[in-house]
Amino acid sequence: LIALRGPRPLAGKRVLVSAGPTYEDIDPVRFVGNRSSGRMGFAVARAAAEQGAEVTLIAGPVALDTPSGVMRVDVRSAEQMRSAVLQHATVNEIFISAAAVGDYRPQSVAPHKLKKTGQGLALALTENPDILAEVAALPEHPFLVGFAAETESVEEYARAKLLRKNLDMIAANCVGNGCGFEAEDNQLNVIWREGSECLPRASKLVLAHQLLARVLERYQASGR
Ligand code: CTP
Ligand code: CA
Repeated sequence: LIALRGPRPLAGKRVLVSAGPTYEDIDPVRFVGNRSSGRMGFAVARAAAEQGAEVTLIAGPVALDTPSGVMRVDVRSAEQMRSAVLQHATVNEIFISAAAVGDYRPQSVAPHKLKKTGQGLALALTENPDILAEVAALPEHPFLVGFAAETESVEEYARAKLLRKNLDMIAANCVGNGCGFEAEDNQLNVIWREGSECLPRASKLVLAHQLLARVLERYQASGR
């Protein structure tokens, strides 16, 4: 039975994964969200567990089952995701930030449902903290893998994010054409400081396994 389960290259490693969108409340019945389904991040969590890692999954609001053997923490807003990630960050060897963290939240949450005025509505938004950049600024931080969903100049924008956020690796995907958000398949351009590799279109689980193989390779090359 053990042999049938295949190789477990991540045995003994603790891997933290964030996944899904965040919802930023406007009032008790409305929120600002995004179209992330959480499927890529959940596939990464499942693949890491299949490869033997001890996996903690910080999940935004998604309609997905917890992969077997994965410890799941549910959150809703970027602020909640930030505290959950920071709470777990330092005990993990690897952090894969697949969540589509909302960039903005309403400046204030209305205590009661907003009523129509016939005048339109201007919503004031505040920028959310950059969770990944905060983890990168911790003195003892895990090996950091970001995701970047872009609609243009994919590799250029993703490499800029790798450097700006001080990451070890970034997985870029072009959203659209049956790939990316809300889609079954994906394709990834995996980028690190010294190189990059394209992982051609495949199911998110297959890509997750391929991505983790590159992550482990770079993790070991980094001498950690
Ligand atoms: N990220 C994060 N906290 C945020 C925004 C993004 O931790 N507040 C993480 C995401 O989980 C992802 C990476 O940063 O791993 C890149 O996210 P992305 O939205 O592509 O980058 P931004 O820096 O938000 O830039 P922009 O949306 O303007 O392209
Ligand atoms: Ca963003």
